[in-house]
Amino acid sequence: MGTFLDSVPFSGIIRIRDMMYGVKDPFRLDQGDVSFDAPDTVKRAMHQAIDENRSHYLQTTGLPRLLELLVDKLRQKNRTPVSGPDEVMVTAGGIHALYIVCQALLEPGDEVIIPDPEWPPAAGNIKAARGVPVLCPLHERLGWRYDLFELSSKITPKTRAIYLNSPHNPTGGVLTRQDVEHIAALARDRNLWLISDEAYEDVVYDGAEHISPASLPEMYERTIPFYTFSKSYAMTGLRLGYVAAKDPKLRERMKKVLFYTASNIASVVQYGGVGGLEGPQDSIDVFLAELQARRDLFYAGIREHAGGVLSGDAPRGAFYAFLRIDPGWRPNGKDHVDSTSWAMAEYLISQGRIGCVPGADFGPTGEGYVRFCFARDRRELTGALASLRALLVGARV
Ligand SMILES: Cc1ncc(COP(=O)(O)O)c(C=O)c1O
Repeated sequence: MGTFLDSVPFSGIIRIRDMMYGVKDPFRLDQGDVSFDAPDTVKRAMHQAIDENRSHYLQTTGLPRLLELLVDKLRQKNRTPVSGPDEVMVTAGGIHALYIVCQALLEPGDEVIIPDPEWPPAAGNIKAARGVPVLCPLHERLGWRYDLFELSSKITPKTRAIYLNSPHNPTGGVLTRQDVEHIAALARDRNLWLISDEAYEDVVYDGAEHISPASLPEMYERTIPFYTFSKSYAMTGLRLGYVAAKDPKLRERMKKVLFYTASNIASVVQYGGVGGLEGPQDSIDVFLAELQARRDLFYAGIREHAGGVLSGDAPRGAFYAFLRIDPGWRPNGKDHVDSTSWAMAEYLISQGRIGCVPGADFGPTGEGYVRFCFARDRRELTGALASLRALLVGARV
């Protein structure tokens, strides 16, 4: 048995999900799932694929038409100089792309620098490939960005890659162009790979810009960008993502991992992806405008209803509120808790039916914070805020 897998942790999000199943009429602000539905273009294309019996094996790396569309998208939207469809692979979502990259790139003991806090599968996938995640804090005072000197101090002779995730889960931090340029220079000088998780590429607010590191000069050769249809096309359950890589040797390895884990990605879902990309892209703008309105509604509610127990600035990207918990807060008159963020999450779930994720689950820097997903519909958000008020303000008067 692969006993080393015993040391690869499950995400606490699983524990939260199990707790949520026991809650009647919950407010599901715990999972990173949008309340929108997939665009009609996606649904129609999947219906048509079913009607036309497109239910057979496909090319391992993806349906040729989908790969062609992805090459165009990567070139035009991400400004990444992809040469052709050979450099792109379709995966079962972003998480599968990350698994493939880690398996293909890492040798046992290779270090990968990841943000702290971070979406837990980043560390999990690095460990599953017998690599070593090295945490580098993001700082709330910098809008949840790196101190770039601190980042460079984490590089050792064993560092193989820096994993970037901008816009960022769980904090919503967005790296600036200068940040990305600085990190790109580090990667070039120290001969490192960048693994660039761009799951939230479309979700930036207030004029913030998403920069794909592979668009910078000479960076595509050492950057492996990956993407997902989960967020921009509300296709979380359909499992569709993609990854690009320039290096042919690395790609050959990635292709083996893809083949041995999936053979090919579900045909009907890939046709759905074709429909999504061939159709008009305005659903993304509509989705973004609505997300910004939900962000503002949620933060106004927190200021008004959380009695100062939860606070933080609205993020510039992604769709999470990563809120600081008043360090003096204790649930139900307890005088000690081991983890404020777990105590808060358990309290809000059990007493207020409000799904949320303890910040500590994303790394040590997340202790003292709690994450809410504000991509839920407005009624669910206002219901959760009313419940919060009853718990946090009601308890004080
Ligand atoms: C930072 C980040 N990367 C990648 C993903 C991958 O999502 P999926 O596997 O659904 O494509 C997620 C999903 O929540 C995420 O938050």
